[in-house]
Amino acid sequence: MATPTSPVQLRCNYFENPLGVHDATPRLSWRLATGDRRGARQTAYRIVVSTARSGKADLWDSGRVRSDATTQVAYGGKPLASHQRAWWKVESWDEKNRRSESTPSFWEAGLLARTEWRGSWIGAALAGGPETGAPSPYLRTIFNVGKKVASARLFATALGLYEFHLNGERVGSDVFTPGWTEYKKRVQYQSYDVTSLLRPGANAAGAVLGDGWYCGHLGWRERNYYGERPQLLAQLVLTFTDGSTQTIVTDGAWKTSFGPIVESDMIHGEAHDARRELRGWDEPGYDDSAWLPVTKFADPAIEISPTLGPLVRATQELKPIAPPVKIDLWPAPIWVFDMGQNMVGRVRLHVRGKAGQVVRLRFAEVINKDGSLYTENLRAARQTDHYILRGDPRGETWESKFTFHGFRYVELNGHADDLLPDAITGVVLHSDTPRTGTFSCSDPLINQLQSNIDWGQRGNFLEVPTDCPQRNERLGWMGDAQVFSRTAAWNRDVAGFFNKWQRDISDAQGAEGQMPSVAPHIKGVEQDGGPAWADAAAICPWTMYLCYADQALLATHFDSLTRFIDYMEDQSKGLIRSHPDTKVWHGYGDWLALDGSGNVFGNTPKDLIGTAMFAYSTSLVAKMARVLKRTKEAVHYERLAARIRQAYQDRFLTADGLAAGLTQTSYVLTLSFDLAPVALRPKLMRELVRDIEARANKLTTGFVGASYLPHVLSRFGRADIAYKLLHQKAWPSWLYAVTQGATTIWERWDGWTKENGFQDKGMNSFNHYAYGAIGSWLYAVVAGVDIDPATPGFKRLVLAPQPGGELTSARGTLQSPHGQITSAWKISAGRFEWEVTVPANTTASARFPVPGKAKISEGRTPLARAAGLSAVKSSVSAVTCELSAGHYKFTATWKAA
Ligand code: BGC
Repeated sequence: MATPTSPVQLRCNYFENPLGVHDATPRLSWRLATGDRRGARQTAYRIVVSTARSGKADLWDSGRVRSDATTQVAYGGKPLASHQRAWWKVESWDEKNRRSESTPSFWEAGLLARTEWRGSWIGAALAGGPETGAPSPYLRTIFNVGKKVASARLFATALGLYEFHLNGERVGSDVFTPGWTEYKKRVQYQSYDVTSLLRPGANAAGAVLGDGWYCGHLGWRERNYYGERPQLLAQLVLTFTDGSTQTIVTDGAWKTSFGPIVESDMIHGEAHDARRELRGWDEPGYDDSAWLPVTKFADPAIEISPTLGPLVRATQELKPIAPPVKIDLWPAPIWVFDMGQNMVGRVRLHVRGKAGQVVRLRFAEVINKDGSLYTENLRAARQTDHYILRGDPRGETWESKFTFHGFRYVELNGHADDLLPDAITGVVLHSDTPRTGTFSCSDPLINQLQSNIDWGQRGNFLEVPTDCPQRNERLGWMGDAQVFSRTAAWNRDVAGFFNKWQRDISDAQGAEGQMPSVAPHIKGVEQDGGPAWADAAAICPWTMYLCYADQALLATHFDSLTRFIDYMEDQSKGLIRSHPDTKVWHGYGDWLALDGSGNVFGNTPKDLIGTAMFAYSTSLVAKMARVLKRTKEAVHYERLAARIRQAYQDRFLTADGLAAGLTQTSYVLTLSFDLAPVALRPKLMRELVRDIEARANKLTTGFVGASYLPHVLSRFGRADIAYKLLHQKAWPSWLYAVTQGATTIWERWDGWTKENGFQDKGMNSFNHYAYGAIGSWLYAVVAGVDIDPATPGFKRLVLAPQPGGELTSARGTLQSPHGQITSAWKISAGRFEWEVTVPANTTASARFPVPGKAKISEGRTPLARAAGLSAVKSSVSAVTCELSAGHYKFTATWKAA
């Protein structure tokens, strides 16, 4: 029985029922729940927006719009006032003109004007020094509620980190709020519905502050990079049932005390003295007579902006995989716990002991042969927590608040012999980007690789895409994020995350238009990030546009991107970027490539990488201009891109198909960005393949080349070579680390080798996602699910698996903006079986990797007569067709190549 199409999963700017929206025209999206009905699609919609849950359309009625759009539909109604709620629902008509309706959802405006923030920035007077931290201030106030509360909203932010409490309860479950932004320009705030936390009569509001990125250690720098003390700004707005309101703000009436958090630092760790805990500090009846008045700080005069991306949350807990290993040391033994997974977050400690006893926790990604922690690669990051027991005979439990660590192993030191069985639990923290993709295949090592990629992503997508989560670095390195962004968007829903980070990038843009190496930018790191790093500014938003059809992201940042391209043009010499004659930073080369005889930049000429990336970014900005219908700019940047290509050909390519530097990366970039004339491409491919084969099917590429390498090989007909690289188990290869027990992606191909042991301790992270960029190839080519760039956001899919190598099956699934996509194939007994799901309201072009004469059926029906198919075409090597929405099970005769 056919199910009518019904709109579900209503989202506003990627979030379900968000608060704190500033956008005057937020974008509305929904999915169609249709079961697997073939050809299910929407033919029209109507959006009704009202001030009341079941009210009439007093804010907006789109009217019946004949359209199949279900994502990114801009709200076109009356502007909302600050903290006004808009209720919305969707009516949708399907292909048979049957109407169905969603249940109502809402979004709510935030505090829209800076001037509406009526409170003061408050905190404690004590400040730490460049190396010494100060204890975390606790802040509180009390207020009276005399009438019946209809609704209450908390708007809060901090310079530093805050955790807000109301009447003994923690508000929300977000971690490290308000998040990390370019604090010199802006800080984010959060909005919470706190209606249920208020009581009639006396109420208490309070917050604990931490140093965080704002005044703790940042990267390898000393403390106090942005400021000296954490400060809170908050506003609690109560609306009573009679319509009147009451506003409580942070002001001089608040009081402060230090409590148990003696020190906290994102890089070094946290120290908690449980004897100093302030029981009931967030309750109205608490005696705060010993507390001091807060210090009021000058308004920092920066923007207070809405939260655009997902905040950090605890998303999973891990138990050690074996009993801890005891190492006898004087004066007390230490225990080493193995979490079984290199993870990012904190631990929950459960201990029993005497008051004043100190437990020290140290964290590391790997261990030495004798089982002790290997911490040299953490550089100066202490990654150490201290817990001082209060001596509760029933045992005591503690989790840090304002720090995180990258670790698989936890060392517990300073505890007598009676360890409790659940002494350590790992709490996984990251920006809450729900999983959208899965990939699996017949090779367990590749499945472990996929798991390592996803864990690397989770650990490093923490407020900004960081390079690594453990050493004293943890910065938003642009090159790493750029190569990985497409893979990231497969694994998880990162639309909001990259929207937020793009704002950080624009904030970090230099006055002349240059884009940095890291965003947020910090002093000492190049302001012009140079090739492949700065270019993240153009590549990431374009990737998000392809994956989520997010035009608004392009529109918001378009001007900043044209300034970036113009800057590169200015700095180039004859359109050669990073020309040796120019004075600007020539970039990080093909970072960590193995063709450079120990040189971290590799051997690919920096001006070749520079000019290739310049051409690529320029072509992306030209495409953005087309999408945004800015024809004048489109023509300008298309022409510029063509001129850069010409300059590239003149300088770097020979008529014989050699590319300067003769490195794999030189060939890969030339081919990937279409920089060579069409006729030259086969010759370039031959050189690339020759180089790989001459090295017994090994790669030499670094951060820049590695991500494009497999795509280039399969695109130009040599998927067989890409599979050889994928299956390669000797280093350098993707699987080498896997065979050595890695559970995340390593920074270097040779982070540890049997021959040489650990690589240079100064730069050897075991959780660096950059080489995980192979993930996009696993999904797009092995499983065979890709985007049609002309119809982005998976509105039209390209399904074209290229089975190969030693694989006998592969399965990729994706929760796309339109619903679940599946492509799963299996080869057995002379048959190729292919299961495909095309979500409702989308279409797909499908390519069967079988010769035209193969017999193909769908279920029991021969292909030509199967329902939902059209335009079936056969060639010597493949059969192609168009698919409408639905679930299909194809079988084809298969002859091994
Ligand atoms: C980071 C990298 C980054 C690089 C720039 C390193 O310290 O960890 O991932 O991209 O510097 O070359």
